[in-house]
Amino acid sequence: MRFYLTTPIYYVNSTPHIGHAYTTIAADILVRHHRQRGDDTFFLTGVDEHADKVARVAADQGLTPREYTDAIVGAWQELPRRLNATNDFFIRTSDEGHKRFVQEFLQRIFDNGREDIYQDVYAGWYCVGCEAFKTEDELVDGRCPDHGTEPEWLEERNWFFRLSAYQDELLRLYDERPHFVLPQFRYNEARSFIEGGLRDFSISRATQTWGVPIPWDPDQVAYVWADALVNYLSALSYAPGENLQRFWPATHLLAKDILRFHCVYWPALLVAAGYEPPRQLFVHGYLNIDQQKISKSLGNVIDPLDLIDVYGADAVRFWCARQVSFGQDGNVTLDSFQERYDRELANDLGNLVSRTSAMIARYRDGTLKDTPGPGAIDAEGLRGALVERLDRFDITGALDEIWQAVRRLNQQVEVSAPWELAKDGAKAAELDAVLYDLADGLCAVAVAVSPYLPETAPRILEALRQPPGLSLDRVRRRTAEAAEGIEPASPLFPRVEASSAAA
Ligand code: MSP
Repeated sequence: MRFYLTTPIYYVNSTPHIGHAYTTIAADILVRHHRQRGDDTFFLTGVDEHADKVARVAADQGLTPREYTDAIVGAWQELPRRLNATNDFFIRTSDEGHKRFVQEFLQRIFDNGREDIYQDVYAGWYCVGCEAFKTEDELVDGRCPDHGTEPEWLEERNWFFRLSAYQDELLRLYDERPHFVLPQFRYNEARSFIEGGLRDFSISRATQTWGVPIPWDPDQVAYVWADALVNYLSALSYAPGENLQRFWPATHLLAKDILRFHCVYWPALLVAAGYEPPRQLFVHGYLNIDQQKISKSLGNVIDPLDLIDVYGADAVRFWCARQVSFGQDGNVTLDSFQERYDRELANDLGNLVSRTSAMIARYRDGTLKDTPGPGAIDAEGLRGALVERLDRFDITGALDEIWQAVRRLNQQVEVSAPWELAKDGAKAAELDAVLYDLADGLCAVAVAVSPYLPETAPRILEALRQPPGLSLDRVRRRTAEAAEGIEPASPLFPRVEASSAAA
């Protein structure tokens, strides 16, 4: 199986916040899971540079757009690195390979013999925040509901894409592929937008110079979305390796704010240019902080790198996957972060590893014998549940299945009370079986949780002196091997004072 997953490419008009980290983390969890299954994977993320709002921020700072984006791109490249994301490539839309591909892509549509691209004058309200035209009825009191700003009147002779001609073809695609967009309510939203009738849209800008020149009319540049969406294909054409044939079509991850561009415009553009539409799109919800949209002007931006500095990347990944059911909107607070860190990571999982390793060290001199009991968790059931849930992008549900196993192992410690068994020489075989089942369950849990906690999982295996492989078929009974030299493990999630997080 091939699995090519993308995140949106983020606008570089400011530095990353936790909302951007959220999508990148979710994507990395899914890709790591597919790698565990032995799939051939490609994971793409990157940045969207040719936006008018980027050019404006550059001008405010007295820089050319290119000087500005060259300066800020490092902060965006640092994001996946610090999150421990395993992207195969990081695209910048200012890459020469991308710009060339966008020109070829647009030329293919221009030349497709269906007059899909034509010239017209457009006049309308343009929201720079959205980088999109707005109809009167999309505005609330004359303002963009997403950005709270008044749009600007824009009137230009531009090149247009005949989206209206693709209505029937898109509806057919949606009918043939009932899981084309997930979750179901987002599929319905996209489909009813298409049913409502599609308007052609302008794919060029006459008054801007920051962007990819239109090949047949170099006085105009491509509209930022006509440039940005193409990244999902272009990256495959120049990232090292023969990737285009191998990995297209893609699975796209995005939030609801850019649903129409991805679920409607993009498949139509692809078909017009002679490419296959995406394989699937998953549209997740919004993280809100203290019930409010994350935004610079509200001053509630959480910098993911600050959280990583204090708690580590695994804790940030865990919180993002666990705190809000993936697909839904959710409110988050920093208190919930500390609370989950203490209760679930440090207590449930960290203590379990410490106790298990300490008991093997103490009662069996660090030796784990191959003496299985009845088994402490249903590891095969867990593996099936993970596959089933993650095939539906349910990263929160899959993590919950893992956590139930963690809790069951903790209960098992209490119920079997190895410290009592250790006092009674007649119960030596029983103690061996209990310790084996705990270690065995922990190994399966470590492999299962590795897409979420990629730093912690190998440490658990190492603490139990087990081989490091993370293949999903190790989520089964009797995955633990006999081992020696097991010592009490140092805490996986050391105590963090809430005050150091706020600082
Ligand atoms: N540049 C465009 C995307 C072009 S893709 C061809 C863009 N960039 S963006 O910087 O605004 O990023 C939007 C995306 O960032 C969302 O779709 C989502 O993936 C992520 N998020 C930004 N804020 C978010 C939250 N508060 N919550 C969840 N995800 C968020 O749109």
